[in-house]
Amino acid sequence: MHFIILLPLLFVLSSALNNNLGLTPPMGWNTWNRYGCDINETVVMTNAEMLGILGLDKLGYRYVNVDDCWNLATRDSMSNRTIVDPERFPSGMKALSDFVHDRGLKFGIYSSAGTLTCEGRAGSLGYEDLDAQDYVSWGVDYLKYDNCFNEGIPSFERYQTMKKALEKAAHNHTIFYSICNWGLEEVWQWGNETGNSWRTAGDIFNSWESVKYNFEVNQLHPDVAGPGGWNDPDMLEVGNGGLSHTEERTHFALWAVVKAPLILGCNLNTISNRSLSIISNKELIKLNQDSKGDQAVCVHNCHSLKDSEDVQVFGGWNKDNGGYYGLVAVNWNDLESKPISIDFKSLGLTKSSEEYCSVYDLWNKGVHIGNYQGKYLIPNIDPHDNVALKIKCKRKASSLE
Ligand SMILES: *[C@@H]1O[C@H](CO)[C@@H](O)[C@H](O)[C@H]1NC(C)=O
Ligand SMILES: *[C@@H]1O[C@H](CO)[C@@H](O)[C@H](O)[C@H]1NC(C)=O
Ligand SMILES: *[C@@H]1O[C@H](CO)[C@@H](O)[C@H](O)[C@H]1NC(C)=O
Ligand SMILES: *[C@@H]1O[C@H](CO)[C@@H](O)[C@H](O)[C@H]1NC(C)=O
Ligand SMILES: *[C@@H]1O[C@H](CO)[C@@H](O)[C@H](O)[C@H]1NC(C)=O
Repeated sequence: MHFIILLPLLFVLSSALNNNLGLTPPMGWNTWNRYGCDINETVVMTNAEMLGILGLDKLGYRYVNVDDCWNLATRDSMSNRTIVDPERFPSGMKALSDFVHDRGLKFGIYSSAGTLTCEGRAGSLGYEDLDAQDYVSWGVDYLKYDNCFNEGIPSFERYQTMKKALEKAAHNHTIFYSICNWGLEEVWQWGNETGNSWRTAGDIFNSWESVKYNFEVNQLHPDVAGPGGWNDPDMLEVGNGGLSHTEERTHFALWAVVKAPLILGCNLNTISNRSLSIISNKELIKLNQDSKGDQAVCVHNCHSLKDSEDVQVFGGWNKDNGGYYGLVAVNWNDLESKPISIDFKSLGLTKSSEEYCSVYDLWNKGVHIGNYQGKYLIPNIDPHDNVALKIKCKRKASSLE
């Protein structure tokens, strides 16, 4: 009886997550989108090496995350510890973690807040302390914590239990805590105080419809995200072949502007030069990694996020580089190219139509396109394509670049 009354109180009193991680959205690579359950240590090692070879580590992609299917279905009958799959990961997780760390990267792992993981491996429910101790002893830097086989126990309770287990096991080691409860049970209300990121929808798939859907759902609660805790529309599908080149560009630009985690999910050993150039866009990465961490919101044609066939604009203020407004205009229409007029005053960038704004093209190395009064007209955005801009406004044209 007392127990039942006390539980909600305890949850309210639990302190905000304060591990000093995720001050900007996390960047890295994960096995799932490309390999699913078909993983082994070779896959992880070769992709980790490619982060360095392709220069992606220098751009900020640091986490190397092993998703589901690294452990066995049953625990050790004596110790209750989880067992690393000896066929897929014969060197063990500590060796793999060392391999990753030796390359200046960070190591991530996966489990479920349930009896089993989604692919039927041993989950952490009831064994949070043991698993957290193992993660710390392996040097794990990031935990993606899924929601399968959860026994109907409320998410908040299960995710808080692992949060506390990580804190208890960690001593001075900190672990980025990625909540993956698929946006359920009002995670926007407690995700921020529990983890460093929280998924806002179910799994992304390798298609335009899925990218669009996960993006839209991720826009429902932009206000709860910021430095230390991020809305997560799921990992990137760039380089996996299900999107056209145009759609890959838009997928990346949208994730960047709304400050989503940028976790790659393709095979870096075979990535095309075109896909590589998208994920290597320094201007969009800078926008994503802005220290203010404000998730861009819909600011034009926002009547219907879902089923929109229009050009919509997602924009927000950024603090770095002297402060600027960043936006991505996306044409959701499947068939028609469409124009868009960026009206500075209605976006709150200027107070009068006399003021000038400098416009820079984030898809073209941030070059200065020009200075404009009142509005900037984009005559044509192709179906599923986008324009990504940085805008700075001043009262006098002479004070602009
Ligand atoms: C590791 O996994 C990859 C990708 O699924 C596969 O091609 C390869 O044969 C596997 N290697 C070993 C040693 O099992
Ligand atoms: C293992 O787990 C079982 C079931 O939860 C428990 O009864 C047992 O005491 C545990 N053993 C150890 C060594 O923790
Ligand atoms: C944790 O950090 C403190 C202060 O930096 C240090 O004194 C202490 O020895 C560290 N503890 C462990 C377990 O590393
Ligand atoms: C995150 O949660 C904490 C504690 O509830 C709150 O103080 C903070 O403002 C929240 N951050 C955002 C960005 O909502
Ligand atoms: C990709 O670019 C590299 C370096 O510029 C070049 O060596 C390689 O041939 C290109 N690959 C393809 C498939 O075009």
